[in-house]
Amino acid sequence: MTDLATTLHSEFRSRFPGTPLLVMAPGRINLIGEHVDYNLGFVLPGAIDKHFIFAIAANNTDRCRVYSSDFRESSEFDLTALVAGPHWVNYFMGVAEGFRRKGKTVHGFDCVFGGTIPAGAGLSSSAALCCGLGTALNELFEAGLSKIELALIAQFSEHEFAGVKCGLMDQYASLFGERDSLLLLDCRSNTHEAVPFPSSQCTIILADTRVKHSLASSAYNDRRAACEEGAAKLATLFPAVTSLRDVTLDQLEKGKSLLRQEVFTRCHYIVTEMERTQQAAQALKSGDLARVGKLMFQTHEGLRSEYEVSCPELDVLASAAAKHPEWVIGARMMGGGFGGCTINLIRPGSEESFKALVSKEYFTSFRHAPEFHTVALAQGTHRMNR
Ligand code: GLA
Repeated sequence: MTDLATTLHSEFRSRFPGTPLLVMAPGRINLIGEHVDYNLGFVLPGAIDKHFIFAIAANNTDRCRVYSSDFRESSEFDLTALVAGPHWVNYFMGVAEGFRRKGKTVHGFDCVFGGTIPAGAGLSSSAALCCGLGTALNELFEAGLSKIELALIAQFSEHEFAGVKCGLMDQYASLFGERDSLLLLDCRSNTHEAVPFPSSQCTIILADTRVKHSLASSAYNDRRAACEEGAAKLATLFPAVTSLRDVTLDQLEKGKSLLRQEVFTRCHYIVTEMERTQQAAQALKSGDLARVGKLMFQTHEGLRSEYEVSCPELDVLASAAAKHPEWVIGARMMGGGFGGCTINLIRPGSEESFKALVSKEYFTSFRHAPEFHTVALAQGTHRMNR
């Protein structure tokens, strides 16, 4: 057991009766393929060695009692009254409701959880929360759900209980992650191919802006709506189009007059990002890290100028990284945007120089320091004890 698992296990024993089941659920990174999941293209995420651990046991009632060891806060809810609210326990309720809608019976449980995923950093802590709880309930109540069904329940919780119309990438990566590999995930078929990551040739460092601009979730839903509007308009010209996944650059140009300027620009980013992701996966397979890095910088530029989900903090981090090709293979903003982290591929041995430089530039602009998280690719959500 890890130290954290031991701590949470004893915390559980001091609060609740019984012996808990232990489940670990990781956060995720995404190398490339940003805002592509809900357009049904390919993305290249991986689970990381930052996670939540849940200690959980059934309690033979309809009440669920949850203690967050990080917030030092308890919360309770009743399985007969699952309603969305503003609190973290919301995600738990969403998962329980997701099981119910699948016709699976969930009974009351006691749970202590805590973790190492930095909050608000865009590493999908909410997906990890939902995937971890889903996996735990699946085991506790022998629901027999597959990993993909659990991913969809976790996404349901996010859509219906948190109001973010996210794709499936975060949940998929948290559940299916593999040590030392990225997942080339096809968001249309919801299947993946593992692509080994050359961790001896580069260190993954996340540079955390430590900001989250408030428009993040409404802007996210707006971007998704723009993509859907674009796909629907293009389908009138090309009937085989059901999502931007089906659109070539050539078709997009041909359909340009049908689209509002803003919708065209958003779609242009998506169609080119889909292409970049395929190229990056190929480059990774053939050991061409320099190419991967170039594509990452291009993605940042597209997210900044076309998709418009970056922010000054992320731009400073990405452009500081770009100034030092001797240390940095590639860098870009990662995740939904408007804050969170950049992902940086750093040459081994240059980690400290990179951090010092980026910190300095960032501090000069924003008067607070970024935070750095060095991460490795890890196994997806799993039960830790029998
Ligand atoms: C968030 C969403 C994901 C995905 C990314 C952007 O993390 O939860 O589904 O859309 O943003 O790639």
